[in-house]
Amino acid sequence: MKGTPRFGIDAPGLVLGFAIGGPLLLALGLGGSAILPPALAGAMVYTGAVLAAEAVLMALSSLRGKPAVLRRMVAALALRGDEQVLDVGCGRGMLLLEAARNLPRGRATGLDLWSTRDQSGNAADATARNAELAGLRERVRIDTGDMRRMPYPDASFDVVISSLAIHNLPTQTDREQAVREIARVLKPGGRVALLDFRHTADYARTLRANGLADARRHGPNFLMFPWVWIVRGHKQA
Ligand SMILES: C[S@@+](CC[C@H](N)C(=O)[O-])C[C@H]1O[C@@H](n2cnc3c(N)ncnc32)[C@H](O)[C@@H]1O
Repeated sequence: MKGTPRFGIDAPGLVLGFAIGGPLLLALGLGGSAILPPALAGAMVYTGAVLAAEAVLMALSSLRGKPAVLRRMVAALALRGDEQVLDVGCGRGMLLLEAARNLPRGRATGLDLWSTRDQSGNAADATARNAELAGLRERVRIDTGDMRRMPYPDASFDVVISSLAIHNLPTQTDREQAVREIARVLKPGGRVALLDFRHTADYARTLRANGLADARRHGPNFLMFPWVWIVRGHKQA
C-alpha cells in the first residue's frame, strides 16, 4: 500500500465554525461600521479576528504542533522496544504509530470509540490503513471500546499513553473512571504519559490516589493550541 498516513483535524466542527464565523463577523463589523453603533462594530471585528485566529491555530496545532509534541512525548518514555503499550482514545493513530515505531519487539494497542466529532474521518479502518502506510501494521492492535470500561484484564500494559482524549468525557466522574481504568490496566512498575489541554491536574490527582504516587503534570507546552500539559507517573511495583 502506498501513500502517507493522514491523521485528520481535532474538533473539526469547532474549527470549521470558527473558520466560517470568524471572517464573517469580521467582514460584517468592518462593512457595517457606517451604520452600526461603534461599540457593536468594534466588538464584531475583535471577536471575528479572535475566532479566525483560533481556527488557524487549532488547524496548525493538529497538523504541525501535535506531531512534534507527540514525538517528544514518546522519546521521553525511552522505550526498551519490547513493551505492551496502550493508547487510550487513539483516533487515527498519530500517537499510536509513534509508539509502534519504537516497539520492534512489542505491541501498541489503540482503544477508541471512533467519534468523528472529536477527530475528522475517525474510524478503525482509517487507523488500520495509517498503520499499513507507515509499515507498522504488524506491531499495532486496534480495539473498539470505551475508556471508562476498558476490555482488558488488570495489569495488562507496561505503558499507557493518551493524547487529547480524556477531556472529551462529559463529566468529572466519567474522567475519573477512565483514569482509574488506566491505573487498573497498568502493570506494577508501568508508566503513564497523558497529554491534554484541560483537567490534567485532576488526572494527576486520580492517578496518585490509585497507585501512582509520583504522578504529576509537566508543562504547559505552547507548540499546541490550546496549549497542553503531560501527566507522567509510574505505578508502584
Ligand atoms: C481529539 S481525538 C484525539 C485522537 C488521538 N489521540 C490524537 O491525538 O490524534 C479524541 C479521541 O478520543 C476518542 N474518545 C472519545 N470518547 C471516548 C471514549 N469514551 N472511549 C474511547 N475513546 C474515546 C474519540 O473517538 C477520538 O478518537
